[in-house]
Amino acid sequence: MDNSSPTPTQDSPAQSDSIALETRDLSLWYGDFQALFNVTVEIKHGIITGLIGPSGCGKTTLLRCFNRVNERYGYVTTTGEMRVLDKNIYDEDVNILELRKSVGMVFQRPNPLPISIYDNVIFGMRVHADKGQYKKADYDEAVEVALKEVFLWDDVKDMLKKKATGLQLEQQQKLCIARLLPLKPKVILMDEPCSALDAEGTEAIEDLMSNLRGKYTMVIVTHNMAQARRASDECLFMLMGKLIEHGDTSQLFLNPKEKDTENYVEGRYG
Ligand SMILES: Nc1ncnc2c1ncn2[C@@H]1O[C@H](COP(=O)(O)OP(=O)(O)O)[C@@H](O)[C@H]1O
Ligand SMILES: [Mg+2]
Repeated sequence: MDNSSPTPTQDSPAQSDSIALETRDLSLWYGDFQALFNVTVEIKHGIITGLIGPSGCGKTTLLRCFNRVNERYGYVTTTGEMRVLDKNIYDEDVNILELRKSVGMVFQRPNPLPISIYDNVIFGMRVHADKGQYKKADYDEAVEVALKEVFLWDDVKDMLKKKATGLQLEQQQKLCIARLLPLKPKVILMDEPCSALDAEGTEAIEDLMSNLRGKYTMVIVTHNMAQARRASDECLFMLMGKLIEHGDTSQLFLNPKEKDTENYVEGRYG
């Protein structure tokens, strides 16, 4: 992995123009059905990239390519190239567990494990740890740091042993983000992370995304265009499995280059 690129800071995420995620001519089929067509894209480090487009256009499919989650379906085939953090993720020596550690994912519905809040946060850490690698104090610290990073610590610090599934949905989604953090991911992929939440919950998750901005490369799928405008630095617009346009969020919304993008952002379909 290339560690020579400057680490973007929260104050200057746009400073780094290095590329975190890259595809060249990526196509994907579910059996005979082609869901992605020759997608070529470069996603920058340290910023928030929004992925928008009508339902069924391939947003989730593209997102899942970046940590090779699509492969759990045996009938998926892909062609083309994918590089994540400067590494071809189809190289033979790629360790999928390591890949998924550095590329974390958050789903539409919060899916905490039915164990305590504390155990949720350190679950990944425990799974990946060598025997005896961490002491209780290490786990305690990781829990506190991660929960503070997602603004959940104050809510739950006195109930860490309570079951995570008893939390409100918004808190559950924060927890699902928090449990990625002890693994020190470089990239966080979020697939419509607010779609199960009300307006207040949505705002809370957007606040937390902006808190994480610059520390992690984030890609967020959303069908909520207002959210894409508020929350993302750059946007990708997809239509029927193709990447139509990629640009700064304000450019893409205010001055789209492609007619299809214009139709979409003006709400004419999807
Ligand atoms: N596991 C799957 N098996 C077969 N077809 C799928 C699967 N997942 C998605 N598709 C199809 O691929 C296309 C893109 O889906 P998806 O990536 O989920 O779109 P989006 O997230 O933009 O709504 C759709 O036509 C969908 O029906
Ligand atoms: Mg989807």
